[in-house]
Amino acid sequence: MKIIDGKAHHYVKFLVYGCQMNVSDAERMAGQLAAIGYERLSDDAAMDEADLLIINTCAVRETAEDKVYGKIGEIKGLKRKHPQLIFGITGCMAQKESDSLIKRAPHIDFVLGTSKVHELTKVVQEIEQERGHIVDTDLTETELPDGGPIARQGKLSAWIPIMYGCNNFCTYCIVPYVRGRERSRRPEDVVKEVEQAVAQGYKEVTLLGQNVNSYGKDHKLATFAELLKMVDKVEGIKRVRFMTSHPKDLSDEVIDAIAEGEHLCEHIHLPVQYGSNHLLKAMNRVYTVESYKELVQKIRARIPQASLTTDLIVGFPGETEDDFAQMLDFLKEIRYDSAYTFIYSKRSGTPAATMENQVDDAVKKERLNALMAVQNQISLEINQSLLDSVMEVMVEGPSKNDETVWTGHTRTNKIVLFDHQDEQPGDFINVKITHPQTWVLKGIRV
Ligand code: SAH
Ligand code: SF4
Ligand code: F3S
Repeated sequence: MKIIDGKAHHYVKFLVYGCQMNVSDAERMAGQLAAIGYERLSDDAAMDEADLLIINTCAVRETAEDKVYGKIGEIKGLKRKHPQLIFGITGCMAQKESDSLIKRAPHIDFVLGTSKVHELTKVVQEIEQERGHIVDTDLTETELPDGGPIARQGKLSAWIPIMYGCNNFCTYCIVPYVRGRERSRRPEDVVKEVEQAVAQGYKEVTLLGQNVNSYGKDHKLATFAELLKMVDKVEGIKRVRFMTSHPKDLSDEVIDAIAEGEHLCEHIHLPVQYGSNHLLKAMNRVYTVESYKELVQKIRARIPQASLTTDLIVGFPGETEDDFAQMLDFLKEIRYDSAYTFIYSKRSGTPAATMENQVDDAVKKERLNALMAVQNQISLEINQSLLDSVMEVMVEGPSKNDETVWTGHTRTNKIVLFDHQDEQPGDFINVKITHPQTWVLKGIRV
């Protein structure tokens, strides 16, 4: 708390782990808290400036959970120094671990599950008045955390959730257990939120869901392709992105919509997870290497400039040398612009956790390194092929290391660096690529 001009100011700090859905949820929580007088501290503010500290957690891999347990430990000392501090856990680990978190760490004041985001202010106010512990992790399958105020962090780019939950149950994944079944927002609510964001000055929106292609399969009010077209038409929107697409149901209509849409960006994040049919089956991904390749051919025929990115997991139970060799061949054939690579992490409660033939840690690491080496070379080669091309960049601002070098993204979601002249954040400029690298493209404004 700070007293400014005789008035008390209260501050909340969020530590956010995991995916964009968690970033978006935190913006919704911050919006609600602002309404009861909590200002959100910046991400680099010290924890001891906060009156309310919330860790919005991720449970997708053990490493994500370890980080959170580390932070919970750190905050124990802070709470001793500042007993008035309110400390809560939200997000996917809160959903998964529920009251066992408080048993393990009694300095946690509340644990709120993933479908309880809209209860946050009530919980905080109860604790302000009576202290004590609150745990609420019922996973409602119907409620949508819609309609409340949103305190967006970015100035140009807005996260817009279009659906919550996942029905796919890939055998390695905890998400369906901690986020519940798929629930789509009504198309008019999504469009309204995009319109409001544009009215506030946002140029770009990213439509979020664990599998956006399943959008609308529950309420049948619009398909994902129809939603994309509606959002594309919002007056003043400059760029529309979306994630994540599951390869099993990326429809021709969606591909056509991207090809024809004015503001729909030519970038598809299409996680394949693995490049052999043996493992795709064990992972319950319900497509084959062959059907995936066909899909990629279709995308590239219809949208030649599209960039394609993916997620890959090595070390899934039962992975053989032969599987892994197929995976490397697959990567060389598809040639992704970039890939997020993960080591398989056992998640208790998922089918894969009890499968036989768990892969040795050393082998997992070795395979991860081999995979990254192959992919990095491909990423570099693809970027090198962009030498001398001119790309539209949305100007974001100075880069982290050098104030004179500014940064932005292409429609294909590549990071571009250029020397700053008089551009302002939110400008759209053309940049000629002069120095392509693995992760960034350096260029000059033309
Ligand atoms: N819904 C999205 C992604 C959700 S999680 C999709 O289906 O693509 C993000 C990524 O984490 C996944 O794509 C997967 O590559 C990875 N992941 C999920 N569970 C994992 C686990 N148990 N171990 C390692 N990586 C995992
Ligand atoms: Fe997890 Fe699969 Fe659902 Fe993605 S589609 S969230 S990987 S279960
Ligand atoms: Fe993590 Fe939950 Fe997202 S487990 S990846 S924060 S949906």
